[in-house]
Amino acid sequence: MEFTFTEEQLMIRDAARDFAKSELLPGVIERDEKQEFPHEQVKKMAELGFLGMMVDPKYGGGGMDTVSYVLAMEEISKVDASASVVMSVNNSLVCWGLETYGTEEQKQKYLVPLAKGEVIGAFCLSEPEAGSDATSQRTTAVDKGDHYLINGTKNWITNGSNASIYLVFGQTYPEKGSHGINVFIVEKGADGFVVGPKENKLGIRGSDTHSLMFTDVKVPKENRIGKDGVGFSFAMKTLSGGRIGIAAQALGIASGAYELALKYSKERKAFGKEISKHQAIAFKLADMATDIEVARLLCLKAAWDKDQHNSYTLSSAMAKLYAAEMAMRTTVEAVQIHGGYGFVKEYHVERMMRDAKITQIYEGTSEIQKIIISRAILRD
Ligand code: CAA
Repeated sequence: MEFTFTEEQLMIRDAARDFAKSELLPGVIERDEKQEFPHEQVKKMAELGFLGMMVDPKYGGGGMDTVSYVLAMEEISKVDASASVVMSVNNSLVCWGLETYGTEEQKQKYLVPLAKGEVIGAFCLSEPEAGSDATSQRTTAVDKGDHYLINGTKNWITNGSNASIYLVFGQTYPEKGSHGINVFIVEKGADGFVVGPKENKLGIRGSDTHSLMFTDVKVPKENRIGKDGVGFSFAMKTLSGGRIGIAAQALGIASGAYELALKYSKERKAFGKEISKHQAIAFKLADMATDIEVARLLCLKAAWDKDQHNSYTLSSAMAKLYAAEMAMRTTVEAVQIHGGYGFVKEYHVERMMRDAKITQIYEGTSEIQKIIISRAILRD
């Protein structure tokens, strides 16, 4: 594994850092408070190529590697995790799946605008009664010859109302369990497709999360992605890559909170000296810095595995598990170091603490990552 970055990777990291400071930081507190989607900022992310970073340039993407993606995700998440989840879902869950499994026609029609960020996508797997247990889908996708008929409800869908292209999972052969699931491209505005009300969330409040209802939604056969029954495998493989993005998001939230705590600890005085000079605070900072570095290495290892075409199911689950737990620990400590100031919005760290929580839940809870990791190590 390479421990130095290429010039191109550093350029991408710096571009993401500059963008986050100049475009995301102003207004991030207000967007969180008002649950306002970062429309203008997402448009600029598209112009900078952050929404289809890893897609082949022939389909409108940036042709970058996963390491670059992790570096950019960290920088953007340091400032605004609501914007970075939009970026992560579009890149890893929507573009990757379409590029890997889609037909040439699907790529031209859907991947190109998604990779250019002209439109954004959503990944619709979870259901009211099937979150962690993704095999227990109740949504049905009945084969009607030249089309499928989709019926069901999807929950917790990121980009729920702002997406234009939805990857929707449904059971075609319930008797076949995980082998009976298909995944379809559904366009916004399809008859019978209704976007439910926006969730009022603890964190990542600038991103929109909705339930989606499908009633006799007719999807042309050519909108099925991959072979008949490949949907669950598509979901699992896509999520393995998605977890690298969420791990990098958790890393960014933590490193953002740590940087603020470090700065504050050098400015704030108590008992006659800067609080960083009290061992109680210095040791907290040492633990936070070490924890962040471990998570960063795990994220980069998973990204490197993906770039090398190694299996990355295990390394991405480890990165996601560690980074999410670490982000929660680190942001709680960042609030503690800020004392009372940490508890108010203008110092940012309380938002980061709230944002960190979702990284332990979405794209597989920490418990799901432990299932994946334990199965892999027990198999050997
Ligand atoms: N790659 C390819 N195939 C895989 C796979 C992978 N990584 N993992 C499992 N499979 C295959 C298995 O090999 C198996 O196939 P066979 O029957 O041929 O052997 C089949 O899928 C079923 O696998 P399991 O028996 O392991 O399935 P399971 O029901 O025990 O569940 C699980 C496994 C890992 C717990 C899975 O259900 C899971 O990942 N759950 C979490 C779902 C999740 O992450 N949801 C997030 C929603 S999306 C989201 O949050 C996005 C957002 O908006 C931000």
